[in-house]
Amino acid sequence: MNVAVIGSGGREHAIALSVSKSKLLNKLFILPGNPGTGKLGTNVHIDVNDSPGILNFCLSNSIELVIVGPEQPLIEGISDLLRKNGIKVFGPSKEAARLEGEKSFAKDLMKEYGIPTAAYEIFYKNDFEKSLNYLRNIEYPVVIKADGIAAGKGVVIAENYQSAKSAVEECFVKNSFGIAGEKIVIEEYMTGQEASIFAITDGSDFILLPAAQDHKRIFDGDKGKNTGGMGAYAPTPFVDDEILSQISQKIVIPTLKAMRDKSANYSGCLYCGLMLTHEGPKVVEFNCRFGDPETQVVLPLLDGDILGLLYTTAKGKINKNAVWYNGGSSACVVAASAGYPDKYEKGKVISGIDNVENDELLVYHAGTSIKDGEIVTNGGRVLGITSVIKENNLKLAKQKCYDAISKIYFDGMQYRKDICDKALNLINK
Ligand SMILES: Nc1ncnc2c1ncn2[C@@H]1O[C@H](COP(=O)(O)OP(=O)(O)O)[C@@H](O)[C@H]1O
Ligand SMILES: [Mg+2]
Repeated sequence: MNVAVIGSGGREHAIALSVSKSKLLNKLFILPGNPGTGKLGTNVHIDVNDSPGILNFCLSNSIELVIVGPEQPLIEGISDLLRKNGIKVFGPSKEAARLEGEKSFAKDLMKEYGIPTAAYEIFYKNDFEKSLNYLRNIEYPVVIKADGIAAGKGVVIAENYQSAKSAVEECFVKNSFGIAGEKIVIEEYMTGQEASIFAITDGSDFILLPAAQDHKRIFDGDKGKNTGGMGAYAPTPFVDDEILSQISQKIVIPTLKAMRDKSANYSGCLYCGLMLTHEGPKVVEFNCRFGDPETQVVLPLLDGDILGLLYTTAKGKINKNAVWYNGGSSACVVAASAGYPDKYEKGKVISGIDNVENDELLVYHAGTSIKDGEIVTNGGRVLGITSVIKENNLKLAKQKCYDAISKIYFDGMQYRKDICDKALNLINK
C-alpha cells in the first residue's frame, strides 16, 4: 500500500523508519518530512496544517493509509476530512482528540469515570477574581494549566501565590495563549517518577507499547525550562508488570469506554503521560498521538510489522499480534541548538553523523535541512542520537549513545548528560 506520514520531526523520522521496513509497504511519502525521512521515502512539501493540500495529495497518489504525527491537525479534524473521502487514517477524530486539545474535557471525563488523576478546579476568563480567591486559600505548590494546546508553554508549577497569580494573568489578562488560555485548570501537584506509555487502540481493543521516560527540562537534574523533550529511554524499569496492569485496568480501559459512551470512539495512539505516585499511576495528561522523543526509543524495540499494527487499527480492528517487544533497550539523547528553548540560530553545519550510524545506532533528524549539499541545523531540537541494543541493558544503551554523540558536532550544540540516570539509580539501589 501507499502510505503518507504527516510531520517533520524526530518522531516522524522514527515512524517512517519502522514503516519503511514493512512488507505491506509500496510507496512511502512524508509530508513535509526532513533530510532523514528523505532517505526512506519521498518528502513532499505540504504543510502539516494544510488539510486541503494533504487531502488532494492523498487522492491523487492512491494513499491507503495516513499516519498523523503532530497533534494540531488531529485536533483540527484532519482524520474526519480524510475518512470522509475514503482514506484510512491512524489518528483520532476531532471529537476524540479533545482528550489532548482541551485539558478540561480530559479532566472532567477522568473525574466522571473515576480515572486516577490530580484533583482540580476549572476557571473561565470571567472568573479571574474567583480564581485568585481560590489560590489564596490553597496549599502550594500548585499546577496551573492553559486549557488548550500551548506548544508546551501552557503549564506552570507555582511555588506560591505570587507566581500562581502571574500564571493566571498570563492566561486571563495578557492573553498570552489566545483562546487556549481562556479557560484554565488549577490542579494538585503530584510527586513521583514520570512515565509515558502508548496505547495503540481501535477504540475497544488495545495494546500497550514498552513504557518510556522522557526528560522535558533543558538541563541535567531536571533543571531549567521545559522543552519539547531532551531525551528518552525505554523500557523504563519504573513501570513493572503490576503497574502495567493498573495502567490497563484503571486508566486505558475506562478511558476508552468513556469515549465510546460519549460517541467519540478513540482510535489511534492514546499517549498516557503518567505520574507514578505512592498511590499508584495517575494521569498527568493525555496526548492524541505518539510522543516525541519517546517514539524514537519505543518503535525500534518492536519486532513484527508496525504498518500491520497501524493499518489494522485504522481499519477498526487492531491486530494485537502484529508487533511485540523484542527484549532490547534504547536510549535517545537530543542534540539541541545553543539558546534553545529560547531564541537560537539556524544554519550551522553538522558533522559526524555518517561516522556513528550503525546497526545499534540511529541518528534521527528533527530540526535539520540541506544547504549546499550539507546537513545544517534548522530548529531547536536538531538530532536524536539513539542507541538500540538487543539486550535489556540501559547502562550499555546509555554508553553507546553518549559515545556516538561525542563524535557529532555543530556550533553551539548542547545536550543533557543524564538521560537514563533515574533508571540506572533505581537499578543500582
Ligand atoms: N499535577 C501535576 N503535578 C506535578 N507535575 C505536573 C502536574 N501536571 C503537569 N506537571 C508537570 O508539567 C509537565 C507538563 O504538563 P502537561 O500536563 O504534560 O502539559 P503539556 O505537555 O501540554 O505542556 C509534566 O510533564 C509534568 O512534569
Ligand atoms: Mg506533557
